[in-house]
Parts: sequence; structure tokens; C-alpha cells
Amino acid sequence: MMIALACDHGGFELMGGVKPHLEYKGFEYKDFGTYSTDSCDYPEFAVRAANSISCGECDRGIFICGTGAGMSIAANKVAGIRAALCSDCYTAEMSRRHNNANVIALGARVIGSGLALEIIGVFLGSEFENEGRHGRRVAMLDELDAFRSKELGVRERGLRGVWSEE
Ligand code: RB5
Repeated sequence: MMIALACDHGGFELMGGVKPHLEYKGFEYKDFGTYSTDSCDYPEFAVRAANSISCGECDRGIFICGTGAGMSIAANKVAGIRAALCSDCYTAEMSRRHNNANVIALGARVIGSGLALEIIGVFLGSEFENEGRHGRRVAMLDELDAFRSKELGVRERGLRGVWSEE
């Protein structure tokens, strides 16, 4: 499983503790920044990392900002992303089992690093219950994505190029 990492200045310090934890647990990751505590704009990093999941380069994401709110809002604007803002293990588990969340957003100013690592462990270790009502509901989310992408005309290029030529 390849994990996309994204943070802003508010999440940088916590992300510094997440990376060695992932390595210790044997997970691979790609770090999409930011890379310092200098003030930056969370949508830029969220969308870069979210695109890597949307196009299949990465499988899941761990996105961190001060509250987790900005990161989750930005991530959920990318087609194919189901980002869950979690401050507890129960929500993290259910976001996988019921919502097939592929991104977890965490608030570094909300939860401590110990709880954050617990939540991440639950998120990475839980599987989607892909049958019946949960499968149907996530399929509805996919339909919303498809409808919106067509409406905006961005299905082919995702959100790449909104702020840069990349
Ligand atoms: C940065 O000060 C802060 O606004 C950001 O990290 C995040 O909490 C936004 O949702």
C-alpha cells in the first residue's frame, strides 16, 4: 500500500512523527509536502497528494493541518477522494468499513501525537465492507464525482493545472 502524505505548516511537526512510525510499521509513502513550518496554503498540498490517489499512484492518504478541516475540504474536491476528518479511532474504523475512506485528515492542534498514531493504525488496518448498503452508498458517491467532473469538464485532467502548469 502506497500512502500519500500531505501537511501544511500546522501539521508539519506531527507529520514528522508519522513518517518514522509508518516506516517502522512497514508502510511505503510519498511525501507531497509541505517541508517546513513556513506558512503555506493547505489546498495546494492537499490537491497534489489527492491527485496521486485519484490517478492510482497512491492508495491512501494521511493529510494533516491545524484542525484537519481545511485538508479534508480540499481533498474532497478531487474526484475519487473520500476524505474523513477523524479525531477518534471509532470514526477512523467506520470511515473505512462504511465509507471506504481513502484519506484520513487529522488536526495537529486538536489531537496529540499518540492518539494520531493510534487513529492512523486503525485507518490503515480496517477494510471496506463492500456489500449491500455500504457498497450502494459509496457507488452513489462515485456517481456524484462522475456527474460533477463532467459538469466542470475536469474529468480528464483532474484538478491539475488549476494553480500551476504541472
Ligand atoms: C493554519 O493556521 C490553519 O488554518 C490550517 O492548518 C488548518 O487548520 C486549516 O484548516
